[in-house]
Amino acid sequence: MSPSRIYLRPPEAADAPAFLAAVAASRRLHGRWVSPPADAVAFLAWLDRMRQPGQQSFLVLRRDDDSLVGVVNLSHIVLGALRSAYLGYYAFAPHAGQGLMGEGLQAVCRHAFRVLKLHRVEANIQPGNAASLALARRCGFQKEGFSPRYLKIGGRWRDHERWALLAG
Ligand SMILES: CC(C)(COP(=O)(O)OP(=O)(O)OC[C@H]1O[C@@H](n2cnc3c(N)ncnc32)[C@H](O)[C@@H]1OP(=O)(O)O)[C@@H](O)C(=O)NCCC(=O)NCCS
Repeated sequence: MSPSRIYLRPPEAADAPAFLAAVAASRRLHGRWVSPPADAVAFLAWLDRMRQPGQQSFLVLRRDDDSLVGVVNLSHIVLGALRSAYLGYYAFAPHAGQGLMGEGLQAVCRHAFRVLKLHRVEANIQPGNAASLALARRCGFQKEGFSPRYLKIGGRWRDHERWALLAG
């Protein structure tokens, strides 16, 4: 197996300048799919949210130069008989299309299964989001179903496909 080109770490307040610059440079990539924090107030509010129980957020960084590759969020982490979480992710423009987010997503899934001992992670993806569907497929996610008018994005309820990866 080739060594990983990325590593993960939780975001910190000191990441704000680099994070906000990366978001500003990625507007076209993010398009109508995601709306990451785009100013300092939103960034700090996101940090607070991601420090609540049941949420974990990871920056994906390139090992070579510590630059920001993207973000992977685990949210609504539920233990007990479910042991499940939702997954959200986005890349930053200069690093898209190089397989780095694939490595980041796989690293977060390993953390979810081995450290958090989850049984399942779920990603909900709009049917037209070809890059995200390809990423989920490449990482071994299986399509489980279709949820009409599932999430409100950009002021409209959008259909989503439900994809999941199970432990083992
Ligand atoms: C979804 C998203 C994170 C996917 O990121 P990505 O950059 O395509 O993912 P990767 O880093 O794994 O790159 C994969 C591409 O790199 C290519 N690649 C190049 N070198 C590679 C390598 N060494 N290993 C693997 N893939 C490599 C792959 O072939 C693939 O290209 P393809 O899609 O043309 O087949 C990104 O498109 C994004 O941020 N979109 C907007 C936000 C969004 O939609 N989020 C998800 C909401 S559900």
